[in-house]
Parts: sequence; structure tokens; C-alpha cells
Amino acid sequence: MKALVTVEGRTAAVQEIPKPTPAEGEILVRVHYAAQNPTDWKTVPHRPAGRIVGCDFAGTVADPNGSSWREGQRVAGFVYGTMAEPLRGAYAEYLVAGSSFVWAVPDSVSFQDASTIALPFATAMQAMFQRLGLPEPSKPATSAFPVLINGGASSVGLYAVQLAKLAGLHVIATGSKQNHDLLTSLGADVVVDYKDAAWPEKVRELSHDKLQHAFDCISEKETTAAVSRALSSTKGGHIVCILPRKTSELPEGLTKVKVESTIVYTVFGDALNLGEDAFENWGGPTPQDRKLWEKYLSILPEYVKSGKIKPNPTKEIGGLEAILKGFELQQQGKVRAEKLIYKIA
Ligand SMILES: NC(=O)c1ccc[n+]([C@@H]2O[C@H](COP(=O)([O-])OP(=O)(O)OC[C@H]3O[C@@H](n4cnc5c(N)ncnc54)[C@H](OP(=O)(O)O)[C@@H]3O)[C@@H](O)[C@H]2O)c1
Repeated sequence: MKALVTVEGRTAAVQEIPKPTPAEGEILVRVHYAAQNPTDWKTVPHRPAGRIVGCDFAGTVADPNGSSWREGQRVAGFVYGTMAEPLRGAYAEYLVAGSSFVWAVPDSVSFQDASTIALPFATAMQAMFQRLGLPEPSKPATSAFPVLINGGASSVGLYAVQLAKLAGLHVIATGSKQNHDLLTSLGADVVVDYKDAAWPEKVRELSHDKLQHAFDCISEKETTAAVSRALSSTKGGHIVCILPRKTSELPEGLTKVKVESTIVYTVFGDALNLGEDAFENWGGPTPQDRKLWEKYLSILPEYVKSGKIKPNPTKEIGGLEAILKGFELQQQGKVRAEKLIYKIA
């Protein structure tokens, strides 16, 4: 099969490689569409040659391998691309995934749309429900307390806004002016332009100094510092980050603010320690993270079919050969409020 594989020189190239074989508990998927995440290009330089790149996919079951899936059934999900044991990677004509880590794509949902969901949705789900401890949509908040989604127009942010709304919260999102209508249409109650230097003070005012929960979908040192200024001046609060930020990086004097980092790959339940920058949930096995993801994978078909969760807007820019160009576009900050997707088969 053809796949985008890491090669010498800290880059990747399309190569002909053997089709993977599913082991017990795994299925083989024929990939129709794959979607790009920053993790794809961030990991490439750190992996040895021969690893298959890519995480998010949608396709059909090629070998159910004794699972309850049927051959030809439409599925989507994400894998930990560039991993070797077990072999994982979505920028390939076929991939192997754990049989409990895919969701059934309803007929009314295109492969293009379905491919955009799993990784950023799982990231938002884990950050908000497991780490921030926000109420889940199945048991929404009884009174709509405020939550801040910084970087609401990012891929993760667009799902975070929708999940926070389903959870009955008062959703405050940041985004550039051109994305305000999109964010409002997805459920943001208030949208603030982060390009205004005083945006944190504006959020503090809009939340009547009551904001105690924030999800920083950008998680650069300066964005997390800005988010900390939006939290309640008397009570402080909890900021969850998806890059390895730390409380100690905050401006001095914020004694009541806690920063916590989280990485989505723990949803597969396996121990993770690649010696890279430390995330707080990086380490031993994570059965609770796996359980939560499996729960949401079973809810996703209804969420997407009913429109409760809308996929990211998509831009299709080619097939496997176009992916390195897509990496460049995202590195240059040219992918905004949309997902680059690739037609694989
Ligand atoms: N820890 C994890 O498990 C995990 C999982 C997924 C992603 N991530 C990381 O999270 C980050 C976001 O990934 P993604 O795929 O969601 O990103 P993305 O879709 O590429 O994000 C692009 C968007 O970010 C917004 N943005 C950029 N700078 C901003 C700022 N200073 N303040 C607010 N918004 C800003 C822009 O919004 P406007 O268009 O409105 O300007 C833009 O549309 C990446 O660093 C990625 O590696 C981590």
C-alpha cells in the first residue's frame, strides 16, 4: 500500500510499504479520507525512519478480524500516528486501529466531515470533562456558570465550544473577528477578539469576575498568561492546557490559579512516556481515560447525525502527495477555523 512514512532528514515521503495486519482486538480499515492535526508535523522530526504519519481518518472496515464490526461498515477515529508498537498511522491506504476506538459513521455523514472529528473532539472532551471537571452533556449544569474557551476557532476549540454548550454552560470564546459568527452559530454565548490586548479584562467584566474554568486551546506561554488574567480576581481558577504549560510559568502573584496540561493520546489507555516535554497525564496506564473515550465514541454517531456536534469546516487539498504542502500551510499559520483533509482512496 502507499503511505506517508518518516524518512532520514527529519521529514516524510510517500512510499510503498506492506499492508498492516490486525492483531487480536484490532481491525483493518481502508482509509478514504484523513484529516490533518498539528501533531502530525510536530512528531515527524522526532521519529526514526519508517513510521507511518497521521492520526485522524474515516473509511470502511476491510477486516473486522472477529470484532462486532462488519466488512464494509463506515467508521472513523484516530490513532497515535508514528507509533511502531503497535504500528499506527492514518496517512495510508490501510490502517490498523483498536476495534473499540472507532465510531460508526451514519450514512448521512460524509467521510470528509467524519474524518475531522476524533482527535480534536477527544482532546476537548478529555480537557473539559476529565481535567476541568465540567459537567457532561448527559447531566448538564443546573445553572449556567461561565467557561472560557481560548482559541475557540482552532480545531479543538470548535469542538470545545459545542461540548460546553451541550453541557449547559455559559460559553465565552475568543476568536478573530471573521470567526465570531461561526463561533456563535456553534453555541458561544459571547465571543471576544483576542487581538484586542485588553481581552482578558473584557472577559473578566463580561463574566462578572466569576470565571473559574478555562480551556486554553492555544496553550502558548503568553496565551495562558493572558487567560489567567480573565479568571476571577478573588477566587482564581483552573486552566487546562494542551501544550505542556506549568503553573510556575504564570506571572508572579497568581496564587489561586492552577495550570494543568493534558495530552489526548492517553485515551488509548496504554502507558506513555516518550521522554518528550512532560504532560501531567503522561506516564502509566490510563484506564479511566480510555473508558471516557469509548463512552463518547458510542455517543458520536447520534451527536453528528443530529447536528448536535458539527464537524469542522473542511478544505480538501489533494491526496497523500499533498500532505507535506498541508504541513507547510499550517506551520505558516494559514489554516484557520478549518481542517485540511486528504482523499486517500
Ligand atoms: N495535548 C493534546 O492532546 C493536543 C491535541 C490537539 C491539539 N493540540 C495542540 O493544540 C494546538 C491547537 O491545535 P488545533 O489543531 O486545534 O489548531 P488549529 O486548528 O491549527 O488552530 C488555528 C486557530 O488558532 C487560533 N489562534 C491562533 N493563535 C491564537 C491566539 N493567540 N489566541 C486565540 N486563538 C488563536 C486561530 O483563530 P482565528 O482564526 O480566530 O485567529 C486559528 O483559526 C496545537 O498546538 C496542537 O499541537 C494538543
